[in-house]
Amino acid sequence: MKHFLTLSDFSKSELQQMIDLAFEIKKQLKEGKYVPYMQNKTLAMIFEKSSTRTRVSFETGIYQLGGTGLFLSSRDIQLGRGEPMKDTARVISRMVDMVMIRTFEQSKLEEFAKYSKVPVINGLTDSFHPVQLMTDYMTMIEFGKTNPVVAYIGDGNNMAHSWLYLAAIMGFELRVATPKGYECDESIVNRAKELADENGGKLIIGYDPKEAVSGADVVTTDTWVSMGQEEEKEKRIKDFKGFMVDTNMMSLAKDDALFLHCLPAYRGYEVSEEVFEAHADEIFSEAENRLHAQKGIMVWLDRQRDN
Ligand code: CP
Ligand code: NVA
Repeated sequence: MKHFLTLSDFSKSELQQMIDLAFEIKKQLKEGKYVPYMQNKTLAMIFEKSSTRTRVSFETGIYQLGGTGLFLSSRDIQLGRGEPMKDTARVISRMVDMVMIRTFEQSKLEEFAKYSKVPVINGLTDSFHPVQLMTDYMTMIEFGKTNPVVAYIGDGNNMAHSWLYLAAIMGFELRVATPKGYECDESIVNRAKELADENGGKLIIGYDPKEAVSGADVVTTDTWVSMGQEEEKEKRIKDFKGFMVDTNMMSLAKDDALFLHCLPAYRGYEVSEEVFEAHADEIFSEAENRLHAQKGIMVWLDRQRDN
């Protein structure tokens, strides 16, 4: 049995198998076929943070696979009143077939997985957002960017960390530009560099957004204020000056460059209104692909469990 906690737990071929499945299931859905790959299976979805896309895509996804989703907000279950993660894991995993968790520390997710009898999926932690990056990879392929140079501009956060692992494992070039003081976690960068050496990825990490974007095939960013950092908002807005992806910044990338954003987007901060609306096609295809990519992941994990 495998959990899906971070991309670095998987080989390139394993991630590719999940992506292939996602494309296959997406094609079937577009042809009107609802293949019950997970008939009668239940996915529990534990949320300790807000969500629009993750909730709707997992809940719809498991339903379309023939199963059922349980939305469990920590505001409503005993976890929110202090029941330990490990007890919650031992209870829930005796009743359901798979669990998705959105929480704060990666260690809380790992604790749950350690005590779980069923596969656990990371639906975002402070450190990583791997299901989003599987989606972003799928979207880049769909838009013809099969061996891209990607520029990530902004906070060295969960999205940046997962981009590092994705590029390192799938073997493409990623340039990360953050303001000073908002760099990626050093241990994650070091692990990503090892993986990049093994798989032919190229990671360039610096502080100059314009240099990073120059000639890129894909430009991406994320909010400057992640969930849980609301009190730092004013300081962050000052510190991220010069990091907005606007028309000037995008003009340095290739003419046909994509702009991706995991959403929610804050126009006038990490991205300008003009850039956002000019790239709405790929941004909302990316959002839709959450549904498809996660089905690939769920079905793959479910099959591992049966083997
Ligand atoms: N991108 C993403 O995970 O969105 P939600 O926070 O709405 O789930
Ligand atoms: N970095 C953001 C991503 C939201 C999907 C956050 O953690 O809030």
